[in-house]
Amino acid sequence: VITDKSEGAFESVKFRELDEVCAAIAENPEDLVVVHGAGSFGHPQVKKYGIGDAFGVARVHISCLKLNEIFCSKLSDYGVAVIPLHPIELFRRQENELRCDIEKILEAAERGFLPVLHGDVIFCDEGFEVLSGDDIVVFLAERINASRVGFATDVEGILVGGKPVSFFNATMLEEIGGADYKADVTGGMRAKVEKLLKMRSPAEVYIFRGSGENVARFLKGEKVGTEVVR
Ligand SMILES: Nc1ncnc2c1ncn2[C@@H]1O[C@H](COP(=O)(O)OP(=O)(O)O)[C@@H](O)[C@H]1O
Ligand SMILES: [Mg+2]
Repeated sequence: VITDKSEGAFESVKFRELDEVCAAIAENPEDLVVVHGAGSFGHPQVKKYGIGDAFGVARVHISCLKLNEIFCSKLSDYGVAVIPLHPIELFRRQENELRCDIEKILEAAERGFLPVLHGDVIFCDEGFEVLSGDDIVVFLAERINASRVGFATDVEGILVGGKPVSFFNATMLEEIGGADYKADVTGGMRAKVEKLLKMRSPAEVYIFRGSGENVARFLKGEKVGTEVVR
């Protein structure tokens, strides 16, 4: 939503969309954790530098930080007490388990901040991995008692036969094909939906176009886009 991820785009912000989304969040920032993706501040960098060594990891992370700074500054301009929390410092993969200092996020929220996390690179026991915004949302939703989870993306919802459906469940998975992996190193829509279908949380889940209006509706508790039903 907030970056141009089309072929060849590199660190390209969609300022109008960013502004709309931040204005909508600022209307309803309570009881919320925000996770933004990396868009063209992450995916092309992973392709260009790789994350096989520390230098590649540094390049990718710094690029994610730039987008996070732009996003958080905009929210702050709208009067939100925003606190950026960087997954590289909070998460790690240890003995194949994803671990996270969740207390840090909860304490920030309890103290009146809106925590904002983002897609990032993280340390594993050996080497590094990309931790997508999608992974972070699922991980947190399973552990912080989330009642609603919303994914703002650049299409109206999950498309079946080219049209957004109002609800989606596991029996429909074969109807969405391989999805779009072009610009997305973390698996695109297909991977997002598969993770959501496996998510162990009673939360209501929606995927919708991230217009200001839709974000505002979601935050008010309305149904928007496609409901992912487990
Ligand atoms: N069946 C589908 N339903 C919805 N989106 C799809 C589908 N197949 C492919 N896509 C593509 O997935 C993209 C969204 O996934 P992704 O690129 O990972 O976005 P995000 O940056 O929001 O994670 C859409 O732009 C759309 O073109
Ligand atoms: Mg994606």
